[in-house]
Amino acid sequence: MLPVVQIVRRPGILDLGWGHPDPALLPVAALQRATATALERYGADALTYGAERGPGPLIEWICARLAQTDARAPDPVDVIITAGASQALDLLCTLWTTPGDTVLVESPTYHLAVRILRDHPLELAAVPSDADGVDVDALEALLARLARRGKQARMLYFVPTHHNPTGSCMSLERRRALATVAAEHGVLLVEDDVYRELSYDDPAPPSVWSIAPPGTVARIGSFSKSLAPGLRLGYVTSHASLAQRLIGSGLLDSGGGLNPFVALTVAEVCTAGDFDATVARLRAAYRERRNALAKGLHDYLPAGCRFVVPGGGFFQWVELPEGIDAGELLPRAEQSGVSYLPGSRFYLDEPRRNTLRLAFSLYSPDQLVEAAQRLGEAIGRI
Ligand SMILES: Cc1ncc(COP(=O)(O)O)c(C=O)c1O
Repeated sequence: MLPVVQIVRRPGILDLGWGHPDPALLPVAALQRATATALERYGADALTYGAERGPGPLIEWICARLAQTDARAPDPVDVIITAGASQALDLLCTLWTTPGDTVLVESPTYHLAVRILRDHPLELAAVPSDADGVDVDALEALLARLARRGKQARMLYFVPTHHNPTGSCMSLERRRALATVAAEHGVLLVEDDVYRELSYDDPAPPSVWSIAPPGTVARIGSFSKSLAPGLRLGYVTSHASLAQRLIGSGLLDSGGGLNPFVALTVAEVCTAGDFDATVARLRAAYRERRNALAKGLHDYLPAGCRFVVPGGGFFQWVELPEGIDAGELLPRAEQSGVSYLPGSRFYLDEPRRNTLRLAFSLYSPDQLVEAAQRLGEAIGRI
């Protein structure tokens, strides 16, 4: 039989390479209720071509939610619903760039966003980052180098909040500096904000979108992390003019709004209070998992390994002692029954080979401690 799900399980291996949610945490019952309610409430309207922007009830709920979780709420005309963050990025590339344009990507970054960018014939250039996020001085230097070659960057893709893969959060100061530089140079900031709801200690910082001049940022949100990735539902908050550009795309003109039935169903989940309940449950579960993995790493990793416990998201970044290549370590780790993604996968250039990414979303706290022990043993045997 052909597979139903994307993940491929390997018996005997605790595979912390997958940044997927634990199926046991997905809100099946809430979706069952919401599907029935959406069909009752909207009848055939739920099943026909939807409004291009996405259904009003969901957009209104997103605006109200962001009023609570961000520094400012969008106006409904600033928002469009997408088929997840990945599709939003793809659509932005289609409409905002032309082949050969230069697009900037922070490095390290979410490796699969790079795959989407590479589906478009763009020239990608890496912007270095540190523990505090995108290095704005390095960005300015890069923009100046590009200008000398007669080039102007079209957009910059980055993940400032609970970063994938490093788990870091960009400081407010950096967010402000980045917003200023991007606005000065006419670079559209594409802010991937999919982990905003999954903050485990403090509330997430204000999005760059919320503090930047209107029209300079397209912020991409998603229900993949806060509800379920199988919904394929996300959104863009930008500015009415950019939203209008997306709405005017051939894709939306031909097919109407993206995933309208799912969008109406999710609107029911949200207004019934099940979004709040699910996010509270996910935060508690992932916080416990993050803590268990951190304790396991603390107890079992040999001296010389370093890690900073993330404040949210799905990922723990680990630095091995200099000279240990996480790619070369991987087969031995798998022999010990644990897997991960080598950090080199997340760099556009000059990878730091002694780094690796562990996802703590898929496994129970006990399994995560076991995974840390197996990893520590594999490193110790080098
Ligand atoms: C930073 C980041 N952006 C986007 C995605 C994918 O989002 P979606 O499922 O909404 O396409 C992920 C999933 O791992 C992610 O980590």
